[in-house]
Amino acid sequence: MRKILIIGIGAGDPDYLTVQAIKALNQADVFFMPDKGAEKTELRQLRLEILERFVEGSGYRVVDFEVPRRRSNNGYLAGVDEWHGQLATRYERLFAENLSDQECGAFLVWGDPALYDSTLRIIERVRSTGFAVDCEVIPGISAVQALAARHRVALNGIGEPVLITTGRRLAEGTLLDSGSVVVMLDGEQAFTRVETPEVEIYWGAYLGTDDEILISGRLSEVKEEIARVRSRAREDKGWIMDTYLLQGAKK
Ligand SMILES: C[S@@+](CC[C@H](N)C(=O)[O-])C[C@H]1O[C@@H](n2cnc3c(N)ncnc32)[C@H](O)[C@@H]1O
Repeated sequence: MRKILIIGIGAGDPDYLTVQAIKALNQADVFFMPDKGAEKTELRQLRLEILERFVEGSGYRVVDFEVPRRRSNNGYLAGVDEWHGQLATRYERLFAENLSDQECGAFLVWGDPALYDSTLRIIERVRSTGFAVDCEVIPGISAVQALAARHRVALNGIGEPVLITTGRRLAEGTLLDSGSVVVMLDGEQAFTRVETPEVEIYWGAYLGTDDEILISGRLSEVKEEIARVRSRAREDKGWIMDTYLLQGAKK
């Protein structure tokens, strides 16, 4: 049966690759590479560097595919569902056209495949149509772990939970009775709207890469600096990936 490996490659630094991920890379016949707009050149380049560095020999194939844009005419969840449906159809065709029956394909998933990534859901959707394909997941170091390590901070307060959410949800008021909140996918700088005075922020952009930026401190004192640095970096590079931890609202 065809097999798909969903390999977490870590969130930036190729040194984040685990031994298990390297072994998985060496099993794949075909690597499927998404084409995703502005950040595509750099992220594609990083994936190719990973292949050059960690795969022995050059007997593999690389297949690029375009990721359709998500529309949200009927609301967020309906938009995501429709988008997953389109991608599932595209994946099924990719597998049928590029993998023979006993071959193994792989997706190099940024960070960890279990966190804010749709590859797992889309492959399950392909399988649910009856298309015969096996699947294995290799975990990776997520941006959340990279952020905590670079700031040398524990994510949770002692005995406290951690909430991982998006900027969109934080903006809707999902805040701070958890003690610690990690925010990803924040295109609107939702932290600038947090008014709780004692909150600390640990912010990181382009973690694990040569362009990494780290800022931390009392939110009320550093939020303008983060907003300024963030928008300058975004302008200079044309895209940004940033994540932050908010902590200390609950004593
Ligand atoms: C689609 S999610 C993918 C998350 C990924 N699966 C992971 O485990 O980190 C993309 C978001 O992850 C965060 N992110 C991923 N890589 C990052 C990095 N190197 N530096 C900062 N944030 C990053 C950002 O919040 C970005 O908007």
